[in-house]
Amino acid sequence: MKQSNLEQLTEPITILAIESSCDDTSAAVLKNQTVLSNVIATQKVHEEFGGVVPELASRAHQQNIIPVVNQAIQDAGIDKSDIDAVAYTKGPGLLGSLLVGSSFAKGISAGLNVPLIEVNHMQAHILAHQIDGNNAENRKPKFPFLCLTVSGGHTQIVRVDSPLQMEIIGKTLDDAAGEAFDKVAKIIGLSYPGGPLIDKYSKTGDNIKYSFPKSKVDNLNFSFSGLKTSFLYFIRDNIKLDKNFIEENLNDICASIQHTIISTLLDKLQIAIQRTNITEIAIAGGVSANSKFREDLINLGKKNNWNVFIPKFEYCTDNAAMIGIAGMYKYKENQFASLSSKPEARLPF
Ligand code: KG4
Ligand code: ZN
Repeated sequence: MKQSNLEQLTEPITILAIESSCDDTSAAVLKNQTVLSNVIATQKVHEEFGGVVPELASRAHQQNIIPVVNQAIQDAGIDKSDIDAVAYTKGPGLLGSLLVGSSFAKGISAGLNVPLIEVNHMQAHILAHQIDGNNAENRKPKFPFLCLTVSGGHTQIVRVDSPLQMEIIGKTLDDAAGEAFDKVAKIIGLSYPGGPLIDKYSKTGDNIKYSFPKSKVDNLNFSFSGLKTSFLYFIRDNIKLDKNFIEENLNDICASIQHTIISTLLDKLQIAIQRTNITEIAIAGGVSANSKFREDLINLGKKNNWNVFIPKFEYCTDNAAMIGIAGMYKYKENQFASLSSKPEARLPF
């Protein structure tokens, strides 16, 4: 399947998309590759717990889903009768959260008598690159491309041969990169999610003031659990010497650990590029919002002549627009689901 496929849709197709895999309730309306609306309600309830509490997440989705979907339809300026299909996140994600989105999507699909489409959340992160205006220059990666997908639950290098044909060629064996950001942030007392805060404090910090061991893992795989442990010991030992160590060195601590995580990701990406000879390079997932990650990748791309694709912030973290574009490709292929469709917490590609 070629990239131009959606442009070849003879009639405009309108899809309502619903995302509820983790702690963001989101709904979007797409007309072919164009996003008409993309409403995201981020749940604040988890901040004080240092991570997502699954039971609270599903309850918050239940509260948010009706207003979020109504808002998406209103912002798009469409009527419910304009909707041609409903796409929803089947997985991977938290089962209780996924159930809220899937039940709601099935209800609308049955009520409007339009097809239901199941979408894999991780594939959707990657396909966000095919949205019109997905980045400032409206450039889209050509197939095949490599995508480094880095989120709170996953870290994957994916070879993307076509919109619906993708292969994971490297992945984390334990913690995800976003999880590493969030866990080290928690150790130094930052609230959840810690990734954006580490990014913020790093801006005026020294990237190489402290060094942390990078784990050595075979092939194109990653491991971040050892880094979290060595960071914990590093903080504990320094606090013994100076109880104000964190406060006095916050920016340098953040910049140094961020540098270690980002360079680990980019080292493996470079090996993947050498092995596959693919130089169309995309990033996706929440961690792709990280400013140093974006900057370092752009610089590496310039140096090595890669075509680098970095999504707009709104399409990095969880959003329903990406579910809509993935649904659009499945619509084109008549890949519809029945009303017995159900979510799967560990959905493979
Ligand atoms: O893709 P996403 O929104 O949700 C999942 O599917 O997991 O990713 C969330 C993750 C969190 O771990 C969060 O800390 C991280 O993305 N994140 C960042 C930044 N913004 C979000 N990590 C580092 N720097 C950022 N600016
Ligand atoms: Zn995600």
